[in-house]
Amino acid sequence: MPSLLELLRPDRRLALHLPVHGRGAALPPLMQRLLRQSPGSWDLPELPEIGGPLESHGAVATSQARLAEAMGFDHCWFGVNGATGLLQAGLLAMAQPGEAVLLPRNAHRSLIAACELGGVMPVFLPVPFFADRGHAGAMTAEGLRQSLDPWPDPGRPIAGAVLVHPTYHGYSAEIVELIELLHSRGLPVMVDEAHGTHLAFNAEQDSPVSALVAGADLVVHSLHKSAPGLAQTAVLWHRSQRLDHERVQRSLARIQTTSPSSLLLASCETTLDWLLSSRWTSLFEARRHQANQLIHALREQGVLFHPSDDPLRLILATGQIGVSGLDADEFCMRQGVIAELPEPLCLTFCFGFARHRGLAKRLQRIWQALAREGDGVPLPVIPDPPLQSTSIPELTPDEAQRLPHCIRPLAECADQIAAELICPYPPGVPLLVPGERISAERSQWLQSQHQRWPVQVPGMVKVLA
Ligand SMILES: Cc1ncc(COP(=O)(O)O)c(C=O)c1O
Repeated sequence: MPSLLELLRPDRRLALHLPVHGRGAALPPLMQRLLRQSPGSWDLPELPEIGGPLESHGAVATSQARLAEAMGFDHCWFGVNGATGLLQAGLLAMAQPGEAVLLPRNAHRSLIAACELGGVMPVFLPVPFFADRGHAGAMTAEGLRQSLDPWPDPGRPIAGAVLVHPTYHGYSAEIVELIELLHSRGLPVMVDEAHGTHLAFNAEQDSPVSALVAGADLVVHSLHKSAPGLAQTAVLWHRSQRLDHERVQRSLARIQTTSPSSLLLASCETTLDWLLSSRWTSLFEARRHQANQLIHALREQGVLFHPSDDPLRLILATGQIGVSGLDADEFCMRQGVIAELPEPLCLTFCFGFARHRGLAKRLQRIWQALAREGDGVPLPVIPDPPLQSTSIPELTPDEAQRLPHCIRPLAECADQIAAELICPYPPGVPLLVPGERISAERSQWLQSQHQRWPVQVPGMVKVLA
């Protein structure tokens, strides 16, 4: 087995995965220059002139204040523990122990971990499901209206709501209407826009709207999933009308490292400045145009894919030619192409912001070879999970995980309470959350998921003893 160091050497495989800087090719020019500096010279502590995300003085504080103002927000904080760390801090700023939050069913697992940390009850709101793709779509305003009527009663105050926009696959939610609806019910709203940083820095009229302009109170951007920053970089934007600044700051202090990497903080700063520059606008337009041309070329050649609202994501419909996305992923690896997200019915690629010459031909050849491998008979669709209404777990995730438990086969867990998370990663969307009572229908659905991807969905589950 090669060492990690050996694996980090440049190689010729095509990077169609996150982070989207394409192994450095699309890093902002100033970041590329920094990384050419004498190795390690940039690895500094929170010296007084540098400061950190939670300090009121120093270069980081000045950059954060300047960028928040430029984006029309009251505050922003750079994050060096991914969107994960900032989402958790945001949720814990909204909800106190003993309260509840509204979470969409396609919420990232980091939010469940935040509920666990904070003794917060998640109230799950349904999202549409695509049976032919086997994954969730984005929430609609009509869907949310129905979920909130009648108003859910978790037996404790509901302190706020989280939305996901766009999803991992690039499906965008009706974000303006969703935020308005939740605000009209008196709730602060945090939007997980990990996959949509580029929406906030894009002047095109026909693109989905960013939660930054849709009035969200907190927005989390991953600067490596949807902008060309280094892995782990992220930013949290905050409007203080509905949520006190002190609460967010305190919550960040609980979660964040006391030694933030100056390299990652510099990546946050240079990436956001780069996104605000006119050179970025033309680069982004060029990538969008190339992606649209590629999609057109693939369609002409009979390649099957599912539509996404993000032109830089391609969801190959491998299930339609009888090949699972997991097998297709292994095949692509052998061909020197690294995809992002394999699932039972499809394989998603992230084009990112580096230029990939000859990509259409390469993907066409892969598709044709896959079509020869498959028997051409479409794989069975994945029926909707039995999660189509608002649901409240019986225990909070932390309560469920602290109680005595036993391990049972999925087939024998009907009517039991889950004591662990079942969550394929990627995409990191939980299929089962600790504290939920597993209905017979749910147990059957989970068993069918286990058959589709046994490595990601285990056949045994921890339930309360
Ligand atoms: C929707 C969504 N939110 C948050 C995250 C967490 O992001 P990070 O890996 O940057 O911590 C992910 C990661 O996959 C995600 O897909």
